[in-house]
Amino acid sequence: MYRDPFPAPLPQSAAPPAQQPLRVGMIGIGTVGSGTFRVLARNQAEIAGRAGRAIAVTMVAARDLARAAGIVGAGVQLTRDPFEVATHPDIDVVVEVAGGTGPALDWVLAAIAHGKHVVTANKALLAVHGDAVFEAARRQGVAVAYEGAVAVSIPIVKALREGLTANRIGWVAGIVNGTTNFILSKMRDEGLDFGSALAQAQALGYAEADPSFDVDGIDAAHKMALLAANAFGTPVRFADVQVQGIRHLQSLDMDCAAQLGHRIKLLGIARRRPDGLEVRVQPALVPDAQLLAHVHGSMNGIVVHGDASGVTMYYGAGAGSEPTASAVIADLVDVARLSGTQPAQRVPHRGFHAHAMRALPVLPHAAVRSAHYLRVPLRCASDAEPLRSWLAAQGLTPRSAVLADLPAHQGAQWLVLTDTVLQEHVDGVLDKLRTHRAVAGDVTALHVEPLAA
Ligand code: HSE
Repeated sequence: MYRDPFPAPLPQSAAPPAQQPLRVGMIGIGTVGSGTFRVLARNQAEIAGRAGRAIAVTMVAARDLARAAGIVGAGVQLTRDPFEVATHPDIDVVVEVAGGTGPALDWVLAAIAHGKHVVTANKALLAVHGDAVFEAARRQGVAVAYEGAVAVSIPIVKALREGLTANRIGWVAGIVNGTTNFILSKMRDEGLDFGSALAQAQALGYAEADPSFDVDGIDAAHKMALLAANAFGTPVRFADVQVQGIRHLQSLDMDCAAQLGHRIKLLGIARRRPDGLEVRVQPALVPDAQLLAHVHGSMNGIVVHGDASGVTMYYGAGAGSEPTASAVIADLVDVARLSGTQPAQRVPHRGFHAHAMRALPVLPHAAVRSAHYLRVPLRCASDAEPLRSWLAAQGLTPRSAVLADLPAHQGAQWLVLTDTVLQEHVDGVLDKLRTHRAVAGDVTALHVEPLAA
């Protein structure tokens, strides 16, 4: 017969002495700020139970005070002056969710200078000024937490900085922009044109204030700069990220990629190579067999390869009010738990302690190695075989090459997948291919990322 080995009720541990609530000052109460306020109010008991103390928004800076009052109700002090929040003696932590790299930097630095912790979802700010912000915070002994800045709902910063600390990370690859993934999914699955899909993403609150940040890959590049820093212990260097957006993509290429067993995604890659790091954001073909190829709509997905963990994958909402609030509040809980700790005991801002950070070289475009997809419009389908020999003579032997199965009005489209080759070499061959007499129009070249371990 089963005997309960613990028949007596478990002793209840005494509640710890009550701590003061964590007093939050919020700068900005737009999509992310209002979601944060709503989730904090809705789940306050659970959040306090996890944090060990209540978390209370006591002050908000907003441009439109009437609108802000409608969101936060009575009992929250409102101001039009963000510096009042950043420097107020009764604020413990400043949540910066206004965005941008201009005044936001001054607010964040003012908060740090006044000894306040900072929580921000502002990836642009940290990708461009992160090292200065983190250094100022380190000197002041305060935290700057930014889980909401990268792939919003997915705790990827925590995964890299805490869960995967045993590993030498080989690469991080991800779909880290919800807006572009939403647009590509709508174009592929519903045949929507680019403009209508973008308008829908804006209406749903996914897009940046300036949506060119999304569609031109800049937002994803901000996030990849932060992920690369955390993965490899290197400074945050947005300027070194190679960036290409999705404006030029044609739905014809989505169809052709499907015929080759791939899907086109706006992919961020941060990869360690023997001679440096590759950090890039580009539309790329991902094999259908990879889970990442099936991350649709505004969802994000990130795959990390560690030498001990092998491949791990993270999936979740990549944009939106409450998914971002989820990350912002998790950061607030982390800050609430810091009470009584010494700065040196805390998780370092970029995963590595300052003395262990290394400025690793970042490889230029020409030095990137990857496989490629080429779509070559031909004057005549019978040109495919001679062109295959021509490519081989150029040192670009196709791994596979087929004529696309398309309606006649699309003409003969020859689809090539190459092996992994140096970008400099591919660029040279493409220059010649574009002027080859068998070629009838623009040659499309995209990276292929097999994402093999
Ligand atoms: N505009 C961003 C996106 C919001 O679409 O991913 C979340 O960072």
